[in-house]
Amino acid sequence: MDDQEIATLRKLMEYEASRTSPPAEFPQLPDLPGGRYTDERFLELEKQHLWRKSWLLAAHIDEIPEPGCFILWEQAGQPIVVVHSETGNINAFYNTCRHRGAPVVTESSGKKIRLTCKYHGWTYNHEGELLSVRDPEDFSDLDFSCRSLKSVRCEMFGNLIFVNFDENAMSLMDWLGPIATEWKEFQFDKCRLAARHVFDLDCNWKIAMEANTEVYHVKNIHPTTVAPILDDRRNVNSFYPNGHGRMIAPRPEKMKGIMQQRNPDVAEFETVGEIGRTCTQSYGIFPNWVSPLSPYALPPLLFWPNGINKSRLETWTFAPDWGEGRKPDMWTENDGEKLIQVLLEDTEFGAWIQKSVESYGFSGVPLSYQEARIYYWHQSADKMIGTDNIPPELRVPAVIGDDWVFPNDPRLNYIC
Ligand code: FES
Ligand SMILES: [Fe+2]
Repeated sequence: MDDQEIATLRKLMEYEASRTSPPAEFPQLPDLPGGRYTDERFLELEKQHLWRKSWLLAAHIDEIPEPGCFILWEQAGQPIVVVHSETGNINAFYNTCRHRGAPVVTESSGKKIRLTCKYHGWTYNHEGELLSVRDPEDFSDLDFSCRSLKSVRCEMFGNLIFVNFDENAMSLMDWLGPIATEWKEFQFDKCRLAARHVFDLDCNWKIAMEANTEVYHVKNIHPTTVAPILDDRRNVNSFYPNGHGRMIAPRPEKMKGIMQQRNPDVAEFETVGEIGRTCTQSYGIFPNWVSPLSPYALPPLLFWPNGINKSRLETWTFAPDWGEGRKPDMWTENDGEKLIQVLLEDTEFGAWIQKSVESYGFSGVPLSYQEARIYYWHQSADKMIGTDNIPPELRVPAVIGDDWVFPNDPRLNYIC
């Protein structure tokens, strides 16, 4: 982030603190239909479109560091094996033998010279090519070249491995767009995997994610944990192409000196600039990633559906190399035993809210200007699903126009 961008952000923070209403240009946000959290038809639309067409974080290179290493990845509901090939490529395939569909790996991770199906022994290399079958003389016209493991798009951003089920999807770099440039200072190409855990939640996955997509709740839910270190009235929300969003909120005035003190025991990405060091800078990457980024950790939270009213929260911590035997975990205590206090607070009402949205008494969700990133997420989801594919009572009108999407921002008219 250059000096000009930093100066603009600081002015936008003061604008947000001083305004007495939403910006005049900001659209009225219609209520979100409650059925988006309860209707099996919407869950199916998400499955067919969101999870099928988006780039999804699947793994970190530390999980498959050498040729032959593989990891089984099924969070998106598809059986996928991600393999580090002897060619150096990182490949993703359906874990589905091209004979009768048995898995080519059954372990959650490991290292194999070949991927050999245990059912009848068909053998593939790390590029997915079928190398041999048992008793080939018993097949007539078996064309090996047509029986490779079915591949899935797989691209890397730094050390992170993303998967996309859509063969025609834009590249991962295009998907991230201007965020890829903003993230250079966080050195995703140097980050190590420090922690990864999964927790079950009793609510729709979007209810869980939305608790991490606004700061409106901070004073109520986090009075002693987050509120003292985040000035919610100076928060600046931004919308990015493809449904992504960003929030940047400074420390409260009285905390500034304290928070800028450096801990010499903690490794940092030296390249992180002033905003990353003095503010909470958090990104929502469509559809399911929320991550505050800092000099000492890049810790995405990923939210996955597990049916209409259950979800999984996957907590990751990427970090600079802290040295032998020292791995930070930003989200859990005792190596995944329980969520940290802040996340316990964020997830506290999930099951209650799920009961409410399923009740006869729930009609819809009115969102404030502060919560507009949630609305932008929903209208972006509908764009990907295709409005005509969505039952009318579940649709969200696209009222946030491109004039609000980065680099456009009508609030710039209010600062000088
Ligand atoms: S199902 Fe894999 S070899 Fe038969
Ligand atoms: Fe929170």
